[in-house]
Amino acid sequence: MKRILLLGIILTFIFSSSCKKSPVSTIPVPISPIVIPPVVSNKKLIEVANFKIGAAVKVASLQSDAEFANTVKSEFNQITAEYEMKMNFIWTADNTYDFSKVDYLVDFAQQNSKSVHGHTLLWYQSFPDWLKNAGYDTVAFEGKVKTYIQTVVGRYKGKIVSWDVANEIFNDDGTLRVESQIQGRFKDPIGFVGRCFKYAHDADPAAKLFYNDYNVVLATGKRTAMKNMALRFKNAGVQIDGLGEQFHYRISTSQSQINSGFADLANSGLLIHISEADCKVNVNDSPAYVITDADKQKQSDFFKNIVTLYNALPANQKFAITTWGVTDKSTWLRNSTNGNKEYPLLFDESYIKKPAYAGFLAGLQ
Ligand code: XIL
Repeated sequence: MKRILLLGIILTFIFSSSCKKSPVSTIPVPISPIVIPPVVSNKKLIEVANFKIGAAVKVASLQSDAEFANTVKSEFNQITAEYEMKMNFIWTADNTYDFSKVDYLVDFAQQNSKSVHGHTLLWYQSFPDWLKNAGYDTVAFEGKVKTYIQTVVGRYKGKIVSWDVANEIFNDDGTLRVESQIQGRFKDPIGFVGRCFKYAHDADPAAKLFYNDYNVVLATGKRTAMKNMALRFKNAGVQIDGLGEQFHYRISTSQSQINSGFADLANSGLLIHISEADCKVNVNDSPAYVITDADKQKQSDFFKNIVTLYNALPANQKFAITTWGVTDKSTWLRNSTNGNKEYPLLFDESYIKKPAYAGFLAGLQ
């Protein structure tokens, strides 16, 4: 009772003294809760994340654009080639390899303490024409591909620490792509892919090996096919370490669908790589599109959501989140249809961090 009386006296004192101070009103103003401003962190993603932050880089940009190279040096700790490690860039003719661009990238990575993810040994879009048109039978074709894998993975043993062994062999419904170069060629195409994992493993037993595809969290059939393939490999003693989901999405992509598909992907128990993340804002590919603050915010929310999901994975399933490029200026999503009006990445044309970067950072915290 005494305490209540004392409290009453104190409150009366506070109100009466605050009223005296106010020249305008004599009505006591209710005490509003203190609003703590959000902590605006100026930390970098690589300082906060407990997994790698990767970027796909064009080697030509590393060589000719100092701002590009400096941004890669300071903001990312893993790199992959946007196209120079693909088969048609390296394997220019039978028995002829051009490693000049990959060597440059690997040297750059070593000098700047970045790890290198290899992308990709098998991809239907990058089988060179000379190989496709050579008329090899199944055995000869596999012999050639085996030599390629052993040559490339062997050359960078210990330097390229992880590889996408195969990329995009499935349709969304889980059937094999007709254009995959392996469908129709092999009686058991998945068996062939498994042997390619083995060739890569034999060439560098320490390398982490991935299967990579797009639209994985949305397409149940594709996701199931990937998980079944990984299970088949595991049961046969073939090493597969992880599954990559490219994450080429847009601000309008359903976040709840992403969330549930991601949970299903994660229950594979394998390493998960968000391997080519970007987020389209110009969803209608309109040449007249003008980016708005609202769209920038939606993109920021997209990154925050996917990074939050990724960050919640068990530690032994985290590998990396890689963005497919560095600056909007040179994204693969700019084209003549959209009049180069696309802005899917974390840095704008002047290498300034976008709200998307802040969203990514918020997802890490
Ligand atoms: C794209 C590159 O960004 C382009 O520069 C190149 O011309 C074609 O390939 N999925 C993948 C990537 O796995 O290899 C693709 O990269 C983008 C879609």
